[in-house]
Amino acid sequence: MKKLLATLAFSAILATPVLALDGQALYNAKGCGGCHGEAGASITPTFPKLAGQHASYIANQAKAIRDGKRNSGMSAMMRPIVAAASDEEIAAIADFLASQ
Ligand code: HEC
Repeated sequence: MKKLLATLAFSAILATPVLALDGQALYNAKGCGGCHGEAGASITPTFPKLAGQHASYIANQAKAIRDGKRNSGMSAMMRPIVAAASDEEIAAIADFLASQ
């Protein structure tokens, strides 16, 4: 029984990062704030304000820019930044921004 509990606890530790990506940490680590401002509260019209937008809108637009489906305005400048972001990472960042 003890061994089973230890195994379960260990699996929970291993599973945690996959289940709960930290959107705020990802937003900061990927440098989104360099353009979109602290927690998505952009202070310049060049960079859209992301804080408080719908999570699905943020995620869809970020993926469209990443995948070259959205080429409007200055989206090209952002493409290299999101190029390496997975759908899961974008979803976590979008959830974080929507909560701001
Ligand atoms: C180098 C500056 C820069 C960085 C870094 C950057 N972006 Fe952007 N982002 C832009 C620009 C410029 C636009 C507006 C594109 C346009 O003109 O259509 C934009 C647009 C967006 C949009 C669409 C917003 C809307 O209202 O339609 C989302 C969502 C977004 N960025 C998410 C992110 C995320 C998430 C990151 C980090 C992974 C990120 N951006 C990093 C410059 C940047």
